[in-house]
Amino acid sequence: MRVLVTGGAGYIGSVSVEALLAAGHQPVVLDDASTGHPDAVPAGVPFLRQDYTDERATTAALEAHRVEAILHCAARSLVGDSVQDPSRYFRQNVAGGIGLLEAARAAGVLRFVFSSTAAVYGTPEVTPIPEDAALRPINPYGETKRILESALDWYGRAYGMRSVSLRYFNAAGASQANGEDHDPETHLIPNVLAAAAGGGPVTLFGDDYPTPDGTPIRDFVHVLDIADAHVRALEATGGEAGPGLLACNLGSGSGFSVRDVLAVAEQLVGRPIPVEVGPRRPGDPPILVAAVARARDALGWTARHGTLEAMIESAWAWRRGHPRGYGDIIK
Ligand SMILES: NC(=O)c1ccc[n+]([C@@H]2O[C@H](COP(=O)([O-])OP(=O)(O)OC[C@H]3O[C@@H](n4cnc5c(N)ncnc54)[C@H](O)[C@@H]3O)[C@@H](O)[C@H]2O)c1
Repeated sequence: MRVLVTGGAGYIGSVSVEALLAAGHQPVVLDDASTGHPDAVPAGVPFLRQDYTDERATTAALEAHRVEAILHCAARSLVGDSVQDPSRYFRQNVAGGIGLLEAARAAGVLRFVFSSTAAVYGTPEVTPIPEDAALRPINPYGETKRILESALDWYGRAYGMRSVSLRYFNAAGASQANGEDHDPETHLIPNVLAAAAGGGPVTLFGDDYPTPDGTPIRDFVHVLDIADAHVRALEATGGEAGPGLLACNLGSGSGFSVRDVLAVAEQLVGRPIPVEVGPRRPGDPPILVAAVARARDALGWTARHGTLEAMIESAWAWRRGHPRGYGDIIK
C-alpha cells in the first residue's frame, strides 16, 4: 500500500515509516520539518518537505505518488502552548486538517489513520478510560483533535472515508534508528534521561496528587507499539466501509506514577537522578489509564513492549547514541 505519512520526519511518524517499510508498504513522507528532522526519514523513502495544510500542493502530492491511504501524524501538539495561542492550533490542526481531508477527497484517497490523543477525554470520570467515555477536552490541543475526529466520522458517513483514530496515551521509547528529539521537550521520560545525563534537575509538576506517592499516574505506550498499531489500522481501512470512525485507545492498560518512572530510570542508568518539585500544571488530571480492549478486538493489537523498562531502556540507548539528538547525525 502506498501511504502518505504527514509528520513522517517526527518522533512517532518516523518510527511508523520504519514499520510500514518492514510490513512491505511504500511510505511517502510529507513534512515541513517544523518540529521534525529530515535525518529521521530513511534513505530511499520519498521526502516531500512541504506543509500539509496547503490543500492544492497536498492534492498534487497524493496524485503524483498515487497514494492509497494517509497516516496523519503531523500536528501542533504542545498543551501549554495551545492554551496560550489557541489560534495556531485551530488554524493548523482543525482548518489545516480539514484541508487535508479535502485534498484526500479530491485525490480519491478514502483511507485515513489519525494520530489522536488521550487529551480528548479531559478529566475522566472512570478509569481505565473506555473509548465511549465523554469527550470533554480541557485544553485547545485536545479540542482540536476531538474536532478532527468528529469530521472524520461525518466524512465516513457522507463520503465513504474509512478512518481509524488512535488515541495515544503517553508515547515513549525509541527504535534503534529513531527517538525523541523535541525543542522544547515537554515529555517526562526524555526529560528524566536528560537529567540523568547531567542536564540539571528534572521538574516534577506536583507531588500532592491523590495517588499513592502523590505524583500523577500515566499510561505509557512504546512508540514501536504505536507504529505497529498504525500498520494494522491502515490495513483495516481496506475493509468494508463502516458507519463512521473507529476510535481506539493505545496504551499499555497499566498506570505508572512519575516517581515509578524515576525509580526505573535510576535503576537503568545506575545512579540517582536529580529532581526538583514544582507546582502542579493546570489541567493535569491525577490518573489517566487506557482501557485497551477495543484495539485488541478491532485491530488484533496489544502492547508488546508495555513495560517501563523496555520503554526507558530503548530511549536511553537512543540518547546515548545521539547525545545531541539528530544534530549528531552526519550524512
Ligand atoms: N508524543 C506523544 O506522546 C503523543 C501523544 C498523543 C498524541 N500524539 C500525536 O502524535 C502525533 C505525532 O507526535 P510526535 O510526538 O511524533 O510529534 P513531532 O513534533 O515529533 O512530529 C510531528 C511532525 O509533524 C511535522 N509537521 C507539523 N506541522 C506540519 C505541517 N503543517 N505540515 C507538514 N508537517 C508538519 C513536524 O515537522 C514533525 O516532523 C501528533 O499528532 C501528536 O498530537 C503524540
